Amino acid sequence: MSIPTDVTQYHYADGQLYCEGVALADLAARYGTPLYVYSKQALIEKVAELKQSLAPNGHACYAVKANQTLGILRLFAESGLGADVTSGGELYLALKAGFAPNNILYSGVGKTDAELRFAVESKIRAIHVESEPELTRIEAIAAETEQVINIGVRVNPDIDVPTHPYISTGAKEHKFGVPPTQALQMLLHAAQSPWLNPVAIASHIGSQILALAPYAAAADFLVGMATELRSMGITLDYVDVGGGIGISYAGQTPISIGAWFETIQQPVAEAGFTLAVEPGRSLVGPAGALLTKVTFVKDNGYKKFAITDAGMNDLLRPTLYQAKHPIVPVFESEGNINDYDVVGPICESGDFLAKEQALPNVVQGDLLCVLQAGAYGFAMASNYNGRLRPAEVLVAGDQVTVLRQRETYADLLRLQ
Ligand code: LLP
Repeated sequence: MSIPTDVTQYHYADGQLYCEGVALADLAARYGTPLYVYSKQALIEKVAELKQSLAPNGHACYAVKANQTLGILRLFAESGLGADVTSGGELYLALKAGFAPNNILYSGVGKTDAELRFAVESKIRAIHVESEPELTRIEAIAAETEQVINIGVRVNPDIDVPTHPYISTGAKEHKFGVPPTQALQMLLHAAQSPWLNPVAIASHIGSQILALAPYAAAADFLVGMATELRSMGITLDYVDVGGGIGISYAGQTPISIGAWFETIQQPVAEAGFTLAVEPGRSLVGPAGALLTKVTFVKDNGYKKFAITDAGMNDLLRPTLYQAKHPIVPVFESEGNINDYDVVGPICESGDFLAKEQALPNVVQGDLLCVLQAGAYGFAMASNYNGRLRPAEVLVAGDQVTVLRQRETYADLLRLQ
């Protein structure tokens, strides 16, 4: 129930929870609940940590999928980060937010023709190719539009990581990347094509990773491949180790951005290559919280339920990945500690924010704050059960900016 150490900008003062200089209770009164809250300072701190560790020639590309809210993207773009996108929509948002096209990477297993053409027109830094047929499509588009296209190949290094199976991506049973021999052939093919320029070898082994060893293995693996290519006369611009470093959801000790870089940057630099990374969650997760109000408390004699006005449509992670987000009361209380299932209003038993969460006595109208919700929170929200997606606000000191308005009933009809 305490605030994780990597959540730096949420604290109690005079018995109530603050984000930077603003009381969360005031935010609830002004903007309603459920509400996504982000600390600008926490975002800035993470970018600073990243920049401090990254060698001057390195590329840090924020994985837009973690949080694609324009105000957040703008902040990262202004701070000089590049972007890693995974769809035409993310590319569109990244460009609108002001990321320099030559600092945008595009990964993904199923890029459509329209998406590939959009990436080519936008002159992004590189398309990271994930299959042989995709390479064939890109080459055809390049020939047709008479443009040489920078490509990287995402290799599947067959490294299994200890994380939830849905977000482990670097083992051979996963759909991502291509096996090493295919990756080499694809890069050799690109080197011989008048329309393709091989610039990178990439991998992303998974997400919410709390150990350094898989990264050491991935970095070594990629360096080995880049070295082999160099011996064949192909010198790549960068070696991309992906993203994936975890945060402290349930008291785990996260690996610091500094330690991550020490592990991956050294082997890459020693072999004479430039490093690229694609972190998402670690940059934006700890800065964000989901503020929610208890609609009812229900005790069925077997369990106590705190029924909140936020549900799985607002924060899907507990339902989809059995994720345990820290949940803290907005007002500190001396009340007896009880276990509550913190559940939403949606008609599914899978609709919960936490199971058996220890909380001081909860009553109707109480405000609860779900921490570590900045990444894959709003980004995965939906209108399921006719629910309106929440508003999002950015706190900077004692200032508050609305990044996104709360939806209205009319929004449910807008496109139909
Ligand atoms: N690069 C690529 C190619 C990726 O697929 C991902 C995440 C990232 C970078 C960023 O990973 P991060 O640093 O954020 O871990 N919805 C899930 C996470 C899915 C991650 C998918 N790929 C969750 O809520 O845990």
